[in-house]
Amino acid sequence: MDSIEPSSLQSGERTPSCPQKGLLQPSDSSELVQECLQQFKVTKAQLQQIQASLLGSMEQALMGEVSPTSGVQMLPTYVESTPHGNEQGNFVVLELGASGASLRVLWVTLTGIKGQKVEPKSQDFVIPQEVVLGTGQQSTLISWTKGFRCSGVEGQDVVQLLRDAIQRQGAYNIDVVAVVNDTVGTMMACEPGAGPCEISLLVDTGTNACYMEEARHVAVLDEDRGRTCISVEWGSFSHDGALGPVLTSFDHALDHASLNPGAQRFEKMIGGLYLGELVRLVLVYLAQNRVLFGGYTSPALLSQGSILLEHVIEMEDPSTGLAYVHTILQDLGLSPKASDAELVQCVCAAVCSRAAQLCAAALAAVLSRLQRSREQQKLQIAVATGGRVLERHPRFHSILQEMVKLLASECDVSFIPSVDGGGRGVAMVTAVAARLANHRRLLEETLAPFRLSHEQLAAVQTQMREAMDKGLRREPSSLRMLPTYVRATPDGSERGDFLALDLGGTNFRVLLVRVAEGGVQIINQVYSIPECVAQGSGQQLFDHIVDCIVDFQEKQGLRGQSLPLGFTFSFPCKQLGLDQGILLNWTKGFNASDCEGQDVVFLLREAIRRRQAVELNVVAIVNDTVGTMMSCGYEDPQCEMGLIVGTGTNACYMEELRNVAGVAGDSGHMCINMEWGAFGDDGSLGMLSTCFDSRVDQASINPGKQRFEKMISGMYLGEIVRHILLNLTSLGVLFRGQQTQCLQTRDIFKTKFLSEIESDSLALRQVRAILEDLGLTLTLDDALIVLEVCQAVSRRAAQLCGAGVAAVVEKIRENRDLDELTVSVGVDGTLYKMHPHFARLVAATVRELAPRCVVTFLQSEDGSGKGAALVTAVACRLAQMARV
Ligand code: BG6
Ligand code: GLC
Repeated sequence: MDSIEPSSLQSGERTPSCPQKGLLQPSDSSELVQECLQQFKVTKAQLQQIQASLLGSMEQALMGEVSPTSGVQMLPTYVESTPHGNEQGNFVVLELGASGASLRVLWVTLTGIKGQKVEPKSQDFVIPQEVVLGTGQQSTLISWTKGFRCSGVEGQDVVQLLRDAIQRQGAYNIDVVAVVNDTVGTMMACEPGAGPCEISLLVDTGTNACYMEEARHVAVLDEDRGRTCISVEWGSFSHDGALGPVLTSFDHALDHASLNPGAQRFEKMIGGLYLGELVRLVLVYLAQNRVLFGGYTSPALLSQGSILLEHVIEMEDPSTGLAYVHTILQDLGLSPKASDAELVQCVCAAVCSRAAQLCAAALAAVLSRLQRSREQQKLQIAVATGGRVLERHPRFHSILQEMVKLLASECDVSFIPSVDGGGRGVAMVTAVAARLANHRRLLEETLAPFRLSHEQLAAVQTQMREAMDKGLRREPSSLRMLPTYVRATPDGSERGDFLALDLGGTNFRVLLVRVAEGGVQIINQVYSIPECVAQGSGQQLFDHIVDCIVDFQEKQGLRGQSLPLGFTFSFPCKQLGLDQGILLNWTKGFNASDCEGQDVVFLLREAIRRRQAVELNVVAIVNDTVGTMMSCGYEDPQCEMGLIVGTGTNACYMEELRNVAGVAGDSGHMCINMEWGAFGDDGSLGMLSTCFDSRVDQASINPGKQRFEKMISGMYLGEIVRHILLNLTSLGVLFRGQQTQCLQTRDIFKTKFLSEIESDSLALRQVRAILEDLGLTLTLDDALIVLEVCQAVSRRAAQLCGAGVAAVVEKIRENRDLDELTVSVGVDGTLYKMHPHFARLVAATVRELAPRCVVTFLQSEDGSGKGAALVTAVACRLAQMARV
């Protein structure tokens, strides 16, 4: 058998010269001794088998498939965060079960200041045996271990039992906030170093470990975000296939005589409560077989529990151990010879080495689990350690470390001994729970105004509808309801080559659109509009546009051709005809001088004139909503509404001409550019506007304008999130209250981050990476909060947009006096297309608010330039018809 002998056993310290395989002692009993000690040897393969099997058992339990006979339990502890280091307050801590039958009461003060510690005050009380085994008027206890067996407690809520007991006493006012497993306490007590300590190992009377697991992997939790601390409860692991080969006849005997036969088989090979007992059983066996003590066994040696963990530790001590062996054995009524003493030391070493190796295999399984759940190839991790075996048995500790290195070689593990046991950690759990609860409350208060009720959304719909009616009647209204002079959607008979411009979205594009029998072909090129041009002089802007057209014509070999041109100009224009549009005001970060109040087509023609070499025939100017509706309408004749949710937001739809004041004619339809971005500029959205909306508005280049757009569109959502994050930081909820320069920077938080962060396929780790790229240093809790903020802001945006669409489709339905309307909406815009949930939320809101309309959303694939070309094509067709 290729058994592994830890190097700490072989060299350095003085270790007893234990019999080795093949090295027979000159006594008849040497084979018996060897056979006996050999049973405690485990091979690397066996340890790996235990590691793999335990990992499997852990993962099964996480998925909710617990094997009642052999599995670990993986109990969620509802501890969701590790300490930040600034927790403070006074806490009473009760420790039951840590060191046998005793109860420790601690008064723990957390100062909230790193490095400044107040020693806890504590007092130990021995629990009389009749209480340990008596009735339990003492979280739901699943089963007693480690020698406890009070009746009426298993299956009960321990916190409630404790509250009841406090009440029975009557004299105290203590609130029981947390019930914490000792391993969790150990982890939480660990001083946060460079990174948090997210795993802890305890070897005391019993043994266990806990670690921070991704909540989404824990089937019993109804939670898919963040982490939760899982108490592995590995003591109950007893998979036959893995443990069977390493169980000795002594383990079977120990189990048989224990309070809980058949249970906690793994713990019974490692826990301090059992190590002394295993040694005792081996000594009895060797004595009874006349190998030890001249065949004599004393009554004390034959009594269960007469050799304790402390004895084993003392006897194994490399320098003073032999002397202790004599004293301890004599106290047991034995008279050991020198060779007896050495053999006893060998037995202790064999039992403890095996325990340390098994413990290492188990820890390696937890490390593998952590590595998988974090999806990390290399794991650098701190393990908090606690318990008397780890604290007082240096050899156990060194074997453990060495074995972990061997079994989990891809992990860089540092072991951090817990300073004052679980007490400080339990106080920490309580403080962390209080911090989380407080932060949650502040977060909820901050986000509450973003969570809109059905009534609020219905009110937006009603107000929008009223503003539409007023706007159409030319009464004062925040909705301008601009006639576009587009009266019909294409009928498919349009033909020819057209130029198109698309200005006002993320990109400025020049396009060649070929409308032929087989469909529409598009060649387009993107040009940039530098901010200095968008906000410079009007002449500069239009000269730049013409330069881009010339460049495009040259590249496409179109020089000298005067193609009809359609101009998508995505700003509010009062149109006097298809080819005449007075710019009412700039929006979305454009602010070129001397343009407002001017006919944009005239400005373009002037620029063409200045650039003498070109000839262009500008036929139509269209808003991007109109271009999008026309573009989608070419494929689906039911498309009678256009919607943009990109840099800005707006909508257009086909209105009955009779409802449009100021345009001649009573029959037929006309497309109306609503300019809904300005909805609420008369103050009517005041109730919904938060202080964050006001801050974004005030810092914009058009304060007080486009209030609806500023709550919905891509140019502003990132800024709203940034202002909320700044506020949460000042409340101490985020980034541990530390303001960062980076977050103070305007526009640093792009709206595309909302789309990325909210993507379902993204783990929180990736969310963190996105934010770290921005220069923010954040914890997992911070990442979760940022995610929640993004969700609240984008959800409100989508719902408001949905309320707008509902108002429009309901109006179309009523216009036509229909019980039910089936209509399609052509949509474009980066936010709508890229955000993972926006489209779904818009549709859901429309279904809720306009139940009598069946609305299909069509995403525009070709941009609105295609639609501008189609409007131009229709105009050309009509003009040609008029000439004939
Ligand atoms: C484009 C259209 O696809 O979407 C533009 O062609 C429109 O006309 C734009 O303005 C809107 O989206 P964004 O995100 O670019 O502002
Ligand atoms: C702004 C413009 C509007 C445009 C919308 C979407 O709201 O004023 O004309 O349609 O952005 O680009």
